[in-house]
Amino acid sequence: MANQKTFYLETFGCQMNVHDSEKVVGTLISQGYRQVESVEEAGLVLYNTCSIRDKAEQKVFHRLADFRKLERQGKKFGVLGCVAQQEGENIFERAPHVSLVCGSASYRNLPGMLVELEAGKRSTGLDDRQTTETFETEFTARGNPHRGYITITEGCDKFCAYCVVPYTRGRERSRTSDAILAEARQMAGSGYTEVQLLGQNVNSYRDPLRKRTFSELCDHVHLPVQSGSTRVLEAMQREYTREDYLQRIAWIKAARREISITTDIIVGFPGETEAEFEETLSLLDEVGYDGTFSFKYSPRPNTPAQTMPDSIPDGEKARRLSVLQEHQKEIQKRLNARHVGQTLEVMVEGTNPARGQLIGRTSQNKTLNFTTAGGNAVPTPGSYVRVHVSASFPNSLLGEMVG
Ligand code: 5AD
Repeated sequence: MANQKTFYLETFGCQMNVHDSEKVVGTLISQGYRQVESVEEAGLVLYNTCSIRDKAEQKVFHRLADFRKLERQGKKFGVLGCVAQQEGENIFERAPHVSLVCGSASYRNLPGMLVELEAGKRSTGLDDRQTTETFETEFTARGNPHRGYITITEGCDKFCAYCVVPYTRGRERSRTSDAILAEARQMAGSGYTEVQLLGQNVNSYRDPLRKRTFSELCDHVHLPVQSGSTRVLEAMQREYTREDYLQRIAWIKAARREISITTDIIVGFPGETEAEFEETLSLLDEVGYDGTFSFKYSPRPNTPAQTMPDSIPDGEKARRLSVLQEHQKEIQKRLNARHVGQTLEVMVEGTNPARGQLIGRTSQNKTLNFTTAGGNAVPTPGSYVRVHVSASFPNSLLGEMVG
Protein backbone atom coordinates (compact mmCIF):
# COMPACT_ATOMS: atom_id res chain seq x y z
CA MET A 1 0.00 0.00 0.00
CA ALA A 2 1.33 3.38 -0.92
CA ASN A 3 1.70 5.66 2.05
CA GLN A 4 -0.81 8.48 1.47
CA LYS A 5 1.43 10.96 3.21
CA THR A 6 4.31 10.68 0.79
CA PHE A 7 4.69 12.72 -2.36
CA TYR A 8 6.80 12.77 -5.47
CA LEU A 9 7.18 16.06 -7.35
CA GLU A 10 8.61 16.54 -10.84
CA THR A 11 9.20 20.05 -12.13
CA PHE A 12 9.19 21.20 -15.75
CA GLY A 13 10.12 24.59 -17.18
CA CYS A 14 11.62 27.80 -15.89
CA GLN A 15 13.37 28.89 -12.67
CA MET A 16 10.07 30.32 -11.42
CA ASN A 17 8.68 26.80 -11.51
CA VAL A 18 11.78 25.38 -9.83
CA HIS A 19 11.38 27.92 -7.04
CA ASP A 20 7.60 27.45 -6.82
CA SER A 21 8.32 23.75 -6.35
CA GLU A 22 10.66 24.59 -3.44
CA LYS A 23 7.74 26.42 -1.83
CA VAL A 24 5.31 23.60 -2.59
CA VAL A 25 7.70 21.04 -1.10
CA GLY A 26 8.06 23.16 2.04
CA THR A 27 4.28 23.56 2.27
CA LEU A 28 3.63 19.83 1.90
CA ILE A 29 6.26 18.98 4.49
CA SER A 30 4.60 21.46 6.88
CA GLN A 31 1.37 19.47 6.35
CA GLY A 32 3.01 16.22 7.45
CA TYR A 33 3.97 14.88 4.02
CA ARG A 34 7.34 13.33 3.22
CA GLN A 35 9.06 13.79 -0.16
CA VAL A 36 10.20 10.61 -1.95
CA GLU A 37 12.44 10.14 -4.97
CA SER A 38 10.25 7.94 -7.18
CA VAL A 39 6.67 7.71 -8.37
CA GLU A 40 6.55 4.12 -7.13
CA GLU A 41 7.17 5.09 -3.49
CA ALA A 42 4.70 7.98 -3.49
CA GLY A 43 1.09 8.22 -2.41
CA LEU A 44 0.70 11.56 -4.15
CA VAL A 45 2.34 12.26 -7.52
CA LEU A 46 2.64 15.93 -8.50
CA TYR A 47 3.76 17.57 -11.72
CA ASN A 48 4.64 21.26 -11.74
CA THR A 49 4.12 22.02 -15.38
CA CYS A 50 5.19 24.34 -18.17
CA SER A 51 3.13 25.46 -21.17
CA ILE A 52 5.50 27.96 -22.80
CA ARG A 53 5.78 25.77 -25.92
CA ASP A 54 3.65 22.85 -27.05
CA LYS A 55 6.43 20.31 -26.48
CA ALA A 56 6.66 21.32 -22.82
CA GLU A 57 2.90 20.99 -22.41
CA GLN A 58 2.82 17.52 -24.00
CA LYS A 59 5.40 16.25 -21.51
CA VAL A 60 2.97 16.27 -18.61
CA PHE A 61 0.27 14.43 -20.55
CA HIS A 62 2.85 11.78 -21.52
CA ARG A 63 3.90 11.42 -17.90
CA LEU A 64 0.29 11.11 -16.77
CA ALA A 65 -0.37 8.44 -19.42
CA ASP A 66 2.80 6.53 -18.43
CA PHE A 67 1.74 6.24 -14.80
CA ARG A 68 -2.01 5.95 -15.22
CA LYS A 69 -2.01 2.25 -14.29
CA LEU A 70 -0.63 3.11 -10.84
CA GLU A 71 -3.95 4.70 -9.94
CA ARG A 72 -5.11 1.15 -9.06
CA GLN A 73 -2.56 1.13 -6.24
CA GLY A 74 -4.38 4.08 -4.69
CA LYS A 75 -1.95 6.73 -5.83
CA LYS A 76 -3.29 10.21 -6.41
CA PHE A 77 -2.14 12.53 -9.19
CA GLY A 78 -1.99 16.32 -9.24
CA VAL A 79 -1.14 18.88 -11.91
CA LEU A 80 0.30 22.20 -10.75
CA GLY A 81 1.55 25.31 -12.51
CA CYS A 82 1.01 26.68 -15.98
CA VAL A 83 -0.70 23.73 -17.69
CA ALA A 84 -3.03 23.45 -14.69
CA GLN A 85 -3.97 27.11 -14.98
CA GLN A 86 -4.29 26.98 -18.78
CA GLU A 87 -6.34 23.79 -19.05
CA GLY A 88 -8.23 23.93 -15.75
CA GLU A 89 -10.86 21.24 -15.34
CA ASN A 90 -10.25 20.00 -18.92
CA ILE A 91 -7.39 18.10 -17.36
CA PHE A 92 -9.87 15.83 -15.59
CA GLU A 93 -11.25 14.91 -19.03
CA ARG A 94 -7.88 14.36 -20.67
CA ALA A 95 -6.52 12.46 -17.67
CA PRO A 96 -9.38 11.21 -15.47
CA HIS A 97 -7.01 9.80 -12.85
CA VAL A 98 -5.97 13.34 -11.90
CA SER A 99 -7.63 14.63 -8.76
CA LEU A 100 -5.80 17.91 -8.08
CA VAL A 101 -5.41 20.87 -10.44
CA CYS A 102 -3.80 24.00 -9.05
CA GLY A 103 -2.46 27.20 -10.68
CA SER A 104 0.59 28.96 -9.29
CA ALA A 105 -1.25 31.84 -7.59
CA SER A 106 -3.38 29.30 -5.68
CA TYR A 107 -0.57 27.44 -3.92
CA ARG A 108 -1.41 29.20 -0.68
CA ASN A 109 -4.62 27.16 -0.73
CA LEU A 110 -2.76 23.86 -1.03
CA PRO A 111 -3.14 22.83 2.64
CA GLY A 112 -6.94 23.01 2.31
CA MET A 113 -6.86 21.29 -1.07
CA LEU A 114 -4.80 18.44 0.38
CA VAL A 115 -7.46 17.91 3.04
CA GLU A 116 -10.11 17.60 0.31
CA LEU A 117 -7.90 15.18 -1.56
CA GLU A 118 -7.39 13.04 1.52
CA ALA A 119 -11.18 12.92 1.92
CA GLY A 120 -11.33 11.34 -1.55
CA LYS A 121 -12.56 14.46 -3.35
CA ARG A 122 -11.26 16.22 -6.42
CA SER A 123 -9.81 19.63 -5.78
CA THR A 124 -9.33 22.55 -8.16
CA GLY A 125 -7.56 25.85 -7.48
CA LEU A 126 -7.57 28.20 -10.43
CA ASP A 127 -6.24 31.71 -10.27
CA ASP A 128 -8.08 34.88 -11.05
CA ARG A 129 -5.94 36.82 -13.53
CA GLN A 130 -6.67 39.96 -11.54
CA THR A 131 -5.20 38.57 -8.33
CA THR A 132 -2.78 40.93 -6.61
CA GLU A 133 -1.57 38.31 -4.15
CA THR A 134 1.90 36.83 -4.10
CA PHE A 135 2.72 33.49 -2.52
CA GLU A 136 4.35 34.48 0.78
CA THR A 137 5.43 31.42 2.70
CA GLU A 138 7.90 30.64 5.43
CA PHE A 139 8.05 27.03 4.24
CA THR A 140 10.53 27.13 1.36
CA ALA A 141 12.57 23.93 0.99
CA ARG A 142 15.51 25.21 -1.06
CA GLY A 143 17.42 22.57 -3.01
CA ASN A 144 20.83 24.27 -3.02
CA PRO A 145 22.49 25.26 0.30
CA HIS A 146 24.63 28.13 -1.14
CA ARG A 147 22.69 29.83 -3.89
CA GLY A 148 18.98 30.40 -3.53
CA TYR A 149 16.13 32.08 -5.33
CA ILE A 150 13.97 34.91 -4.01
CA THR A 151 10.82 35.89 -5.88
CA ILE A 152 10.54 39.65 -6.42
CA THR A 153 7.81 39.84 -9.07
CA GLU A 154 5.15 37.49 -10.39
CA GLY A 155 3.03 37.54 -13.52
CA CYS A 156 3.23 39.66 -16.67
CA ASP A 157 1.14 42.43 -18.23
CA LYS A 158 2.98 42.64 -21.53
CA PHE A 159 0.82 40.36 -23.72
CA CYS A 160 3.37 39.56 -26.42
CA ALA A 161 1.54 37.99 -29.34
CA TYR A 162 3.08 34.52 -28.96
CA CYS A 163 3.18 34.19 -25.19
CA VAL A 164 0.95 32.31 -22.70
CA VAL A 165 2.50 33.76 -19.55
CA PRO A 166 -0.10 36.54 -19.00
CA TYR A 167 -2.79 33.85 -19.11
CA THR A 168 -1.01 31.31 -16.92
CA ARG A 169 0.62 33.52 -14.29
CA GLY A 170 -1.71 36.45 -13.97
CA ARG A 171 -1.04 40.16 -13.77
CA GLU A 172 2.24 41.72 -12.87
CA ARG A 173 2.76 42.23 -9.12
CA SER A 174 5.76 42.96 -6.92
CA ARG A 175 6.59 41.85 -3.40
CA THR A 176 7.48 44.55 -0.90
CA SER A 177 11.15 45.39 -0.43
CA ASP A 178 10.71 44.63 3.29
CA ALA A 179 9.57 41.06 2.56
CA ILE A 180 12.40 40.54 0.06
CA LEU A 181 15.09 41.89 2.38
CA ALA A 182 13.78 39.87 5.33
CA GLU A 183 14.01 36.72 3.23
CA ALA A 184 17.52 37.61 2.02
CA ARG A 185 18.69 38.24 5.61
CA GLN A 186 17.23 34.96 6.76
CA MET A 187 19.05 33.17 3.92
CA ALA A 188 22.33 34.93 4.70
CA GLY A 189 21.89 33.85 8.31
CA SER A 190 21.58 30.23 7.28
CA GLY A 191 24.72 30.24 5.15
CA TYR A 192 23.62 31.35 1.68
CA THR A 193 26.30 33.30 -0.18
CA GLU A 194 24.34 34.13 -3.33
CA VAL A 195 20.73 35.05 -4.02
CA GLN A 196 19.11 35.14 -7.43
CA LEU A 197 16.16 37.46 -7.81
CA LEU A 198 13.33 35.91 -9.78
CA GLY A 199 10.40 37.20 -11.76
CA GLN A 200 8.84 36.81 -15.20
CA ASN A 201 9.97 40.33 -15.74
CA VAL A 202 12.34 41.48 -12.98
CA ASN A 203 12.92 44.91 -14.50
CA SER A 204 9.22 45.68 -13.96
CA TYR A 205 9.84 45.50 -10.20
CA ARG A 206 8.07 48.35 -8.38
CA ASP A 207 8.29 48.35 -4.61
CA PRO A 208 4.73 48.63 -3.21
CA LEU A 209 6.34 50.45 -0.25
CA ARG A 210 8.20 52.83 -2.63
CA LYS A 211 11.38 52.37 -0.61
CA ARG A 212 13.62 50.71 -3.19
CA THR A 213 14.06 50.70 -6.96
CA PHE A 214 15.28 47.85 -9.08
CA SER A 215 18.62 49.07 -10.27
CA GLU A 216 20.82 46.38 -11.73
CA LEU A 217 22.61 44.49 -8.98
CA CYS A 218 24.49 41.95 -11.02
CA ASP A 219 27.15 41.90 -13.74
CA HIS A 220 24.82 39.94 -15.98
CA VAL A 221 21.75 41.17 -17.84
CA HIS A 222 19.32 38.83 -19.55
CA LEU A 223 17.44 40.99 -22.04
CA PRO A 224 15.23 38.87 -24.33
CA VAL A 225 15.10 40.37 -27.82
CA GLN A 226 13.11 37.60 -29.62
CA SER A 227 13.92 38.93 -33.12
CA GLY A 228 16.28 41.36 -34.85
CA SER A 229 13.60 42.54 -37.28
CA THR A 230 11.50 45.58 -36.41
CA ARG A 231 8.66 44.24 -38.59
CA VAL A 232 8.60 40.93 -36.70
CA LEU A 233 8.92 42.68 -33.32
CA GLU A 234 5.85 44.71 -34.15
CA ALA A 235 3.91 41.59 -35.15
CA MET A 236 5.02 40.07 -31.84
CA GLN A 237 3.64 43.14 -29.98
CA ARG A 238 7.02 43.70 -28.35
CA GLU A 239 6.66 47.51 -28.17
CA TYR A 240 10.24 48.29 -29.24
CA THR A 241 12.20 48.43 -32.49
CA ARG A 242 15.58 46.94 -33.30
CA GLU A 243 17.03 50.44 -32.82
CA ASP A 244 15.35 50.94 -29.40
CA TYR A 245 16.77 47.62 -28.27
CA LEU A 246 20.27 48.44 -29.52
CA GLN A 247 20.09 51.75 -27.65
CA ARG A 248 19.50 49.87 -24.39
CA ILE A 249 22.38 47.54 -25.17
CA ALA A 250 24.59 50.60 -25.75
CA TRP A 251 23.66 51.89 -22.27
CA ILE A 252 24.54 48.56 -20.70
CA LYS A 253 27.85 48.48 -22.54
CA ALA A 254 28.64 52.02 -21.41
CA ALA A 255 28.48 50.94 -17.75
CA ARG A 256 31.71 51.34 -15.83
CA ARG A 257 31.95 47.62 -15.13
CA GLU A 258 31.85 44.90 -17.75
CA ILE A 259 28.41 43.34 -17.95
CA SER A 260 27.60 40.08 -19.75
CA ILE A 261 24.48 40.05 -21.88
CA THR A 262 22.27 37.10 -22.76
CA THR A 263 18.98 36.87 -24.63
CA ASP A 264 16.07 34.74 -25.85
CA ILE A 265 15.20 34.35 -29.52
CA ILE A 266 12.24 32.87 -31.37
CA VAL A 267 12.77 31.74 -34.98
CA GLY A 268 9.96 31.10 -37.45
CA PHE A 269 7.35 33.47 -35.99
CA PRO A 270 4.37 33.63 -38.42
CA GLY A 271 5.45 35.40 -41.61
CA GLU A 272 9.16 35.69 -40.72
CA THR A 273 11.01 35.96 -44.04
CA GLU A 274 14.54 34.76 -44.73
CA ALA A 275 15.70 38.39 -44.82
CA GLU A 276 14.06 39.05 -41.44
CA PHE A 277 15.71 35.96 -40.00
CA GLU A 278 19.05 37.28 -41.28
CA GLU A 279 18.38 40.52 -39.41
CA THR A 280 18.34 38.42 -36.25
CA LEU A 281 21.74 36.95 -37.20
CA SER A 282 23.17 40.42 -37.78
CA LEU A 283 21.77 41.57 -34.42
CA LEU A 284 23.67 38.73 -32.75
CA ASP A 285 26.86 40.10 -34.30
CA GLU A 286 26.08 43.67 -33.35
CA VAL A 287 25.30 42.92 -29.71
CA GLY A 288 27.81 40.14 -29.15
CA TYR A 289 25.80 38.04 -26.70
CA ASP A 290 27.56 35.93 -24.10
CA GLY A 291 24.76 33.38 -24.41
CA THR A 292 21.39 32.87 -26.07
CA PHE A 293 18.38 30.65 -25.55
CA SER A 294 16.68 30.06 -28.89
CA PHE A 295 13.41 28.39 -29.79
CA LYS A 296 11.24 27.43 -32.73
CA TYR A 297 7.96 29.34 -32.64
CA SER A 298 5.16 27.22 -31.16
CA PRO A 299 1.51 28.40 -31.38
CA ARG A 300 -0.10 28.68 -27.93
CA PRO A 301 -3.73 28.70 -26.82
CA ASN A 302 -5.37 32.09 -26.04
CA THR A 303 -2.57 34.12 -27.62
CA PRO A 304 -3.12 36.64 -30.46
CA ALA A 305 -0.53 34.89 -32.64
CA GLN A 306 -2.53 31.68 -32.53
CA THR A 307 -4.89 33.13 -35.12
CA MET A 308 -2.04 33.93 -37.53
CA PRO A 309 -1.20 31.13 -39.96
CA ASP A 310 1.81 29.22 -38.59
CA SER A 311 3.41 29.70 -41.99
CA ILE A 312 6.97 28.50 -41.55
CA PRO A 313 7.24 24.70 -41.95
CA ASP A 314 8.83 22.87 -39.05
CA GLY A 315 11.84 21.80 -41.15
CA GLU A 316 12.54 25.42 -42.03
CA LYS A 317 12.19 26.48 -38.37
CA ALA A 318 14.66 23.75 -37.46
CA ARG A 319 17.11 24.95 -40.14
CA ARG A 320 16.93 28.56 -38.94
CA LEU A 321 17.41 27.42 -35.37
CA SER A 322 20.52 25.43 -36.18
CA VAL A 323 22.00 28.21 -38.37
CA LEU A 324 21.41 30.65 -35.52
CA GLN A 325 22.92 28.36 -32.89
CA GLU A 326 26.05 27.70 -34.99
CA HIS A 327 26.43 31.43 -35.61
CA GLN A 328 26.09 32.16 -31.92
CA LYS A 329 28.59 29.46 -30.97
CA GLU A 330 31.29 31.24 -33.01
CA ILE A 331 30.45 34.53 -31.27
CA GLN A 332 30.73 32.90 -27.83
CA LYS A 333 34.08 31.33 -28.76
CA ARG A 334 35.39 34.74 -29.69
CA LEU A 335 33.93 36.56 -26.67
CA ASN A 336 35.04 33.98 -24.13
CA ALA A 337 38.59 34.14 -25.49
CA ARG A 338 38.88 37.71 -24.16
CA HIS A 339 38.80 36.36 -20.60
CA VAL A 340 42.00 34.35 -21.10
CA GLY A 341 44.70 35.96 -18.97
CA GLN A 342 42.18 37.69 -16.65
CA THR A 343 41.85 36.87 -12.96
CA LEU A 344 38.19 36.56 -11.98
CA GLU A 345 36.37 36.01 -8.73
CA VAL A 346 34.15 32.94 -8.70
CA MET A 347 31.69 31.39 -6.33
CA VAL A 348 32.61 27.73 -5.84
CA GLU A 349 29.61 25.64 -6.90
CA GLY A 350 30.99 22.15 -6.45
CA THR A 351 33.50 19.64 -7.76
CA ASN A 352 33.87 17.53 -10.88
CA PRO A 353 35.86 14.57 -9.53
CA ALA A 354 36.06 12.83 -12.94
CA ARG A 355 38.02 15.81 -14.25
CA GLY A 356 39.79 16.67 -11.01
CA GLN A 357 38.29 20.16 -11.25
CA LEU A 358 36.26 22.53 -9.17
CA ILE A 359 33.25 24.23 -10.70
CA GLY A 360 33.03 27.98 -10.27
CA ARG A 361 30.73 30.71 -11.48
CA THR A 362 31.84 34.26 -12.22
CA SER A 363 29.92 37.41 -11.33
CA GLN A 364 29.00 37.53 -15.04
CA ASN A 365 27.29 34.16 -14.52
CA LYS A 366 29.83 32.20 -16.59
CA THR A 367 31.01 28.73 -15.68
CA LEU A 368 34.74 28.80 -14.84
CA ASN A 369 36.11 25.33 -14.06
CA PHE A 370 39.43 25.37 -12.25
CA THR A 371 42.13 23.43 -10.50
CA THR A 372 44.07 24.30 -7.36
CA ALA A 373 47.84 24.19 -7.35
CA GLY A 374 49.16 21.25 -5.29
CA GLY A 375 49.34 22.04 -1.58
CA ASN A 376 46.54 24.61 -1.62
CA ALA A 377 43.52 23.94 0.55
CA VAL A 378 40.52 22.97 -1.57
CA PRO A 379 37.88 25.71 -1.25
CA THR A 380 34.42 24.74 -0.05
CA PRO A 381 31.23 25.15 -2.07
CA GLY A 382 29.66 28.53 -1.43
CA SER A 383 32.99 30.28 -0.87
CA TYR A 384 34.52 32.89 -3.18
CA VAL A 385 38.02 32.55 -4.66
CA ARG A 386 40.12 34.17 -7.40
CA VAL A 387 40.92 32.19 -10.52
CA HIS A 388 43.37 32.91 -13.34
CA VAL A 389 41.76 32.03 -16.70
CA SER A 390 43.96 29.91 -18.97
CA ALA A 391 41.62 28.63 -21.69
CA SER A 392 38.16 29.30 -23.10
CA PHE A 393 35.39 27.36 -24.84
CA PRO A 394 31.99 28.40 -26.24
CA ASN A 395 30.18 27.61 -22.98
CA SER A 396 32.81 27.74 -20.26
CA LEU A 397 36.23 28.92 -19.14
CA LEU A 398 39.12 27.01 -17.57
CA GLY A 399 41.67 28.26 -15.05
CA GLU A 400 43.74 27.82 -11.93
CA MET A 401 43.04 29.18 -8.45
CA VAL A 402 45.29 32.06 -7.45
CA GLY A 403 47.07 31.92 -4.09
N1 5AD B 1 7.01 29.74 -29.08
C1 5AD B 1 8.38 29.66 -28.98
N2 5AD B 1 9.08 30.25 -28.00
C2 5AD B 1 8.39 30.95 -27.07
N3 5AD B 1 8.81 31.64 -25.99
C3 5AD B 1 7.72 32.15 -25.36
N4 5AD B 1 6.60 31.80 -26.01
C4 5AD B 1 6.98 31.06 -27.08
C5 5AD B 1 6.28 30.42 -28.15
N5 5AD B 1 4.97 30.48 -28.25
C6 5AD B 1 10.23 31.81 -25.66
C7 5AD B 1 10.65 33.31 -25.66
C8 5AD B 1 10.73 33.63 -24.18
C9 5AD B 1 11.21 32.31 -23.62
C10 5AD B 1 10.99 32.15 -22.15
O1 5AD B 1 10.46 31.33 -24.34
O2 5AD B 1 11.92 33.43 -26.29
O3 5AD B 1 11.60 34.71 -23.90
